[in-house]
Amino acid sequence: MKQRIFIFAAALITVLASRESALANDKCLECHRNTEDKPSALFLNDIHYAKGITCAGCHGGNPNAEEIEQAMDKKAGFIGVPKGDDISKACAACHSSPEKMKSLGSSLPTNQWEFLQTSVHAKLSLKGKDHIAQCVTCHNAHGIVSVKNPASPVYPLNVVKTCSRCHSDIALMRSYNPSLPVDQFEKYMTSVHGKRNAKEDAKTAECASCHGSHDIRSAKDVKSKVYASNLPGTCANCHSNADYMKAYKIPTDQYEKYAKSIHGIALLQKHDAGAPACNSCHGNHGAAPPGVESVSKVCGTCHALNADLFSSSPHKKAFDQRKLPECETCHSNHEIIAATDKLLGVAPEAICSQCHNENQNVKGYQVAKKMRGLIDSLEAVEKRDQELVYEAEQKGMEISEAKFRLRDVRQARLQSRTAVHAFSEEKFAEVISIGLKTSASIEVESESAIREYYFRRIGLAIATLIITLVALFLFLFVRRLEKKQNK
Ligand code: HEC
Ligand code: HEC
Ligand code: HEC
Ligand code: HEC
Ligand code: HEC
Ligand code: HEC
Ligand code: HEC
Ligand code: HEC
Ligand code: HEC
Ligand code: HEC
Ligand code: HEC
Repeated sequence: MKQRIFIFAAALITVLASRESALANDKCLECHRNTEDKPSALFLNDIHYAKGITCAGCHGGNPNAEEIEQAMDKKAGFIGVPKGDDISKACAACHSSPEKMKSLGSSLPTNQWEFLQTSVHAKLSLKGKDHIAQCVTCHNAHGIVSVKNPASPVYPLNVVKTCSRCHSDIALMRSYNPSLPVDQFEKYMTSVHGKRNAKEDAKTAECASCHGSHDIRSAKDVKSKVYASNLPGTCANCHSNADYMKAYKIPTDQYEKYAKSIHGIALLQKHDAGAPACNSCHGNHGAAPPGVESVSKVCGTCHALNADLFSSSPHKKAFDQRKLPECETCHSNHEIIAATDKLLGVAPEAICSQCHNENQNVKGYQVAKKMRGLIDSLEAVEKRDQELVYEAEQKGMEISEAKFRLRDVRQARLQSRTAVHAFSEEKFAEVISIGLKTSASIEVESESAIREYYFRRIGLAIATLIITLVALFLFLFVRRLEKKQNK
C-alpha cells in the first residue's frame, strides 16, 4: 500500500515538474501575460497548456527567447496570426499526425481535418478561398478544452448554440444557400430532445449526434448520417442502447421492430424511397413533421384515403373519447406488418374481437362479422372466376374480355381493404357489390364459352363421322367400279 502511494506521488511530481519546466520556458506566455491580452489569459485554461504545449505550438517562433524580435522571428518559424485554411492547417500539423499526437501522449483520432475537407462545410466561403468553417469556428482558438468538458463549445449542451450561430442567421445562410431552411433551432426546441437539452440533459440528441461533427454532409448525400436509409441506424445508436437509455423509462426496441416492419423492409431492403424512416413520422427537428399536429396523425400523410375514411367513421369519436391513437391502436407504430383479412372479423386473431364481442360493443361485433363474410365471399367468387377463365382459355376459347375484367374484381377487393376503415356495413357492402356484380358477369361469360366449346366438340364429332362415312362409301364405290372394269 505504502509502495503504491509512493509510486503515485513520484509520478505526480514528475508530471508536474515537466509541465513546470515547459511553462517556465514559455517566454511567449510570460511576456504576453504582462501585456494582459486575452489570448494569454484564456490560454491558462487551455488543454494544450495543460499538455505542456506553448504559444509556439500553433504560432511558431522561439518560446525560449526573452526578446520579442527573436521570439517572434519568421526564421524561427513564427507564422503570426493564421487566417482561413491556414488556421485548420496549423491545428492539423498535430491533429492529423498520429506520430506527433502519440509523442504528446494522445490516442485521439487523427481524422478531423480529413473529414472536415469532405464535409458540406468545406465549401468555399463567400469572401475567400478558405472553407466556411475552420477548427476554431467550433472549438475556439484559445482556452480550448476537452470536448467532454461542459465548457467546450461542442459539449452537447453548447453545440446547439455553436451550430445555430450560423444556421439561425438568415442573412448569412441565404448568402450561401437560399433554399436551406433556417428553423432547425426553433423546431428542435419543441422536440423532446430539445426540451431535455435545455434542461441540461447532455444525453439526448443534439445537432452533432444526428449529423456528425467533422464529416457533416448535405441531407441529400447518400453518405449523410441523416439520409433516409442511414437515419434509422443513427437514431438506433442511442435508442437501441439499453445501457445508455436506462435512466429513461422508455422501450429500446424501436429499431428492431421497425426493421422487421413492412415500412422497414420497404426502405432498408427494397430501397423504396416512399417508405417512412424514423423522421418521416417523428420529424427531423421538431416533435412531429411539418403540418402534422401529432405523431399519431402522421400515417395520413401517406395513407390519405384510410385516414379520410377513419375520420368519418364511428371509431373517430369512440377513439377520441378514449384517447386511443387512430391507426396504431390496430396496426401498432413500429412493428406494422402487412395487413390481411385475418385482422377483420370476430375470430380470436381478428383485431376487432379485442373490443367487440357478444357482450361488449355488440353492434360493432355484428358488423365485423358481416364485413368478414362479405370479403370472404368476394374472395371466393374471384377464385372461382379465375378458374373458369383459365379453363376456357385452356380450351382455346376467346375470353380475353372477361379475363380483363378479372382485374376489376381484384380492384374491388383491394378497395374493400381500404373501405374497411369506414367501419360501416353499408359503405363496405357497396364496394364489395361492385366486385360481386363484375364477378357474376365473368362467370356467365366464361361458363358460356366453356359450353360453346363442348357444343362445338359434339358438332365436330358428328361432322367427322359423316365425312368418314362418306369417304368410306366413296372408297367402296371406287373399289367396286375398278373390279367391274377388270372383269
Ligand atoms: C517580450 C514580449 C513578447 C514575447 C517574448 C512574445 N511576444 Fe508576441 N507579442 C508581443 C507584443 C507586445 C505583441 C503586440 C505588438 C505587435 O502586434 O507587434 C505581440 C503580438 C503577438 C501576436 C499577434 C501578431 C499579429 O500579427 O497581430 C502573436 C500571434 C504573438 N505575439 C505570438 C507570440 C508567440 C507565439 C511568442 C513566442 C514564440 C511570442 N508572441 C513571444 C510581445 C511578446
Ligand atoms: C491551439 C493553437 C493556438 C495556440 C496554442 C495559441 N494560439 Fe493564438 N491564435 C491561434 C489561432 C488559430 C488564431 C487566429 C484566431 C482567429 O482567426 O479567430 C490565434 C490568434 C492569436 C492572436 C491574434 C489576436 C486574436 O485574439 O485573434 C494573438 C495575439 C495570439 N493568438 C496570441 C497567442 C498567445 C500569446 C498564445 C499563448 C499564450 C497563443 N496565441 C496560443 C491559435 C493558437
Ligand atoms: C462544425 C463544427 C466543428 C468543426 C469545424 C471542427 N470540429 Fe472538432 N468537434 C466538433 C464536435 C461537435 C466534436 C464532438 C464530437 C463528439 O462528441 O463525438 C468535435 C470533436 C473534436 C475532437 C475530439 C476527438 C474527436 O475526433 O471526436 C478533436 C480533437 C477535434 N474535434 C479537433 C478538431 C480539429 C483539429 C478541427 C479542424 C480540422 C475541428 N475539430 C473542426 C465540431 C467541430
Ligand atoms: C502542437 C500540437 C497541437 C496543435 C498545433 C494543436 N493541438 Fe489540439 N491537442 C493537442 C494535444 C496533444 C491534445 C491533447 C489530446 C489528449 O488529451 O489526448 C489536444 C487536444 C485538443 C482538443 C481536445 C480534444 C479532447 O480531448 O476532447 C481539441 C478540441 C483540440 N486539441 C483542438 C485544436 C485546435 C482547434 C487546434 C488549432 C487551433 C489545435 N488543437 C492545435 C495537440 C495540438
Ligand atoms: C460558420 C457557420 C457554420 C457553422 C458554425 C455550422 N454550419 Fe452548417 N452550414 C453552414 C453553411 C453556410 C452551410 C450551407 C452550405 C451550402 O449548402 O452552400 C451549412 C450546411 C450544413 C448542412 C447541410 C444542409 C443540407 O442538407 O444541405 C448541415 C447538415 C449542417 N450545416 C449542420 C451543421 C451542424 C450540425 C453544425 C454544428 C456542429 C454546423 N452545421 C455548424 C454554416 C455553418
Ligand atoms: C434527431 C436528429 C436530428 C437533430 C438533433 C438535428 N437534426 Fe438536422 N436534420 C435531421 C434530419 C433527419 C434532417 C433531414 C433529412 C432529410 O431531409 O431527409 C435534417 C436536416 C438538417 C438540415 C438541412 C435543412 C433542413 O432543415 O432540412 C440542416 C441545415 C440541419 N439539419 C441542421 C441542424 C442543426 C443546426 C441542428 C441543431 C440545432 C440539427 N440539425 C439537429 C436530423 C437531426
Ligand atoms: C444522442 C442520443 C440520441 C439520438 C442520436 C436520438 N435520440 Fe431520441 N432521445 C434520446 C433520449 C436520451 C431521449 C429522452 C427519453 C425520454 O425522455 O423519454 C430521447 C427521446 C426521443 C423521443 C421521445 C420519447 C418519449 O419520451 O416520448 C423520440 C420520439 C425520439 N427520441 C426519437 C428519435 C429519433 C427519431 C431519432 C433519430 C432521428 C433520435 N431520437 C435520435 C436520445 C437520442
Ligand atoms: C410509421 C411511423 C413511425 C416510424 C417509421 C417510427 N415511429 Fe417511433 N413512434 C411512432 C408513433 C405513432 C409513436 C407513439 C407516439 C405517441 O404515442 O405519442 C412512436 C413512439 C416512439 C418512441 C417513444 C417510445 C416508444 O417506443 O413508444 C420512440 C423513442 C420512437 N418512436 C423512436 C423511433 C425510432 C428510433 C424510429 C426508427 C427506427 C421510429 N420511431 C420509427 C411512429 C413511428
Ligand atoms: C412516408 C410515407 C408513409 C407513412 C408516414 C406511413 N406509411 Fe404505411 N406504408 C407506406 C408505404 C410506401 C407502404 C408499402 C410498403 C410495401 O408494401 O412495400 C406502407 C405500408 C403500410 C401497411 C401495409 C399495407 C398492406 O398492403 O398490407 C400498413 C398497414 C401501413 N403502411 C400502416 C401505416 C401506419 C399505421 C402508419 C402511421 C403509424 C403509416 N403506415 C405511415 C408509406 C407510409
Ligand atoms: C379498428 C382497426 C383499424 C384501425 C383503427 C385502422 N385500421 Fe387499417 N386496417 C384494418 C384492417 C382490419 C385491415 C385489413 C383489411 C383486409 O385486408 O381485409 C386494414 C388494412 C389497412 C391497410 C392496407 C389496405 C390498404 O388500404 O392499402 C392500410 C394501408 C391501413 N390499414 C392503414 C391504416 C391507417 C393509416 C389507419 C389510421 C387512419 C388505420 N389503418 C386504422 C384495421 C384498422
Ligand atoms: C380498440 C377497441 C376497438 C377495436 C380494435 C375495434 N373497435 Fe369498433 N368500436 C369500438 C368502440 C369503443 C366503439 C363505440 C361503441 C359504442 O359507442 O357503443 C366502436 C364502434 C364500432 C362500430 C359502430 C357501431 C355502432 O354502434 O354503430 C362499428 C361498425 C365497429 N366498431 C366495427 C369495428 C370493426 C369492423 C373492427 C375491426 C376491424 C373494430 N370495430 C375494431 C372499439 C373498437
